[in-house]
Amino acid sequence: MNRGKTAVIVGAQWGDEGKGKIVDVLTQTFSVVARYAGGHNAGHTVIVNGKKFILQLVPGGILRPECTSVIGNGVVLDPMALLKEVASLRDAGVKVDGNLFISNRAQVILPYHRMMELGSENAPGRVKIGTTSRGIGPSYEDKMGRRGLRVADLLDAKLLRTHIENACREKNMIAHALFNSDPLDADKMFKEYAEAAEKIAPFVRDTALLLNQALAAGKSVVFEGAQGTMLDIDHGTYPFVTSSSATSGGAVTGTGVPPTAIDTVIGITKAYCTRVGGGPFPSELTDAQGEDLRKRGNEYGAVTGRPRRTGWLDLPLLRYAGMINGISWLVVTKLDVLDHLKEIPVCVRYKVNGKETAEVPAQACGYESIECVYRNMPGWATPTQGMRTVEELPKAAREYLAFIEKETGARVGMISTGPDREQTILVPDFVSQLGLKSPAARA
Ligand code: GDP
Ligand code: IMO
Ligand code: MG
Repeated sequence: MNRGKTAVIVGAQWGDEGKGKIVDVLTQTFSVVARYAGGHNAGHTVIVNGKKFILQLVPGGILRPECTSVIGNGVVLDPMALLKEVASLRDAGVKVDGNLFISNRAQVILPYHRMMELGSENAPGRVKIGTTSRGIGPSYEDKMGRRGLRVADLLDAKLLRTHIENACREKNMIAHALFNSDPLDADKMFKEYAEAAEKIAPFVRDTALLLNQALAAGKSVVFEGAQGTMLDIDHGTYPFVTSSSATSGGAVTGTGVPPTAIDTVIGITKAYCTRVGGGPFPSELTDAQGEDLRKRGNEYGAVTGRPRRTGWLDLPLLRYAGMINGISWLVVTKLDVLDHLKEIPVCVRYKVNGKETAEVPAQACGYESIECVYRNMPGWATPTQGMRTVEELPKAAREYLAFIEKETGARVGMISTGPDREQTILVPDFVSQLGLKSPAARA
């Protein structure tokens, strides 16, 4: 049997592009969904028949009983957050048991990770990133420092006790010295986490083996990215980034499938731009128009509820995301949020010190000297919400999408016209390349 097809879903901006919804649409035919990076800093919204799910650690495949969901080794797993999410999915009647598998090599987030993050985010003189306070950064620090706890170790009670005792001693000393934090109780922590480990054990597997065997058996796999290109630890707006490889390369290292097994990379972009947390944002709107986009797009963080910063579509960043990830297909979401506009400014180029540049700066301070060059695209000023075919779209909306294609060199394969699973336009070539069901078959 031939190897199953694969696609990576990657955020092309600063996260919250609508990846959750798009993964859900793809799982109409894909058999396996694997998360490869991040942790419960992610919030992926999926709306099925009016019912809303906000998935943080569990991949979107869980909402289809025939789908297998995998949390890969690249993820940092908070056992308490996972158990809470699993419990609420079970309560909603979702089949989790037998469908969800967690890598034995994923890193574990422990309470001292949150303690360290809180301390350093609030410490005087430190750059405040505006993190989600989930312990993500300190947990990846421990991973790279080779002193982390992996899921396989969590299940080994003796090892768990020794690890927690040693780590607490060390972290309590550091946090007290640097941030004057109150010490954490290692004994209590061990008891809680040993109990959680028992509940997690049935989900744990060697998921690299599971995924490679699934591919060899001809099953199709979608790799669900978290965060976005500009939050990637290497390629994003460092240091205002998350601590993992959010870009498509992370799909390989974060799951244990070889690079040669990746067929397609699909970049998700909003029809405009948002970011939550601190850091550069060249096309940001800080005026009433920005507030208007926030209201119409309901731009409030799915995890923290923080208002998202808003701005116009940034094509230099989208081209950069295309280059870094190898994006061949783009999915444009939230087109309907622009329905009221008569004119839509789009950033087409950057100028630095009056000179045009194709480069994206490596330093956060480099962004301060960027001047966005805008082109005003005609708006369509008519509702597109819920449209399901390209033909229905107003001419100006089709031109807007064609302009994105021309400027990025990627094709638009899907357009999202509302938050619900059904509020989606699928382009026929995309449907045939990805082996999806045609819109007629969905109806
Ligand atoms: P993710 O983190 O990339 O999965 O995105 P989030 O779920 O954090 O944020 C996307 C938000 O936009 C969610 O509230 C979605 O329900 C919503 N959404 C997704 N696609 C569309 C769309 O086409 N139109 C509108 N109006 N909302 C959408
Ligand atoms: P999804 O998968 C948007 C941002 C935080 C902060 C920075 C670092 O839903 O798109 P962290 O807690 O990761 O150390 O915070 O990254 N951030 C996200 N922004 N969407 C996300 O995930 C994010 N995950 C982290 O706001 O600026
Ligand atoms: Mg999100």
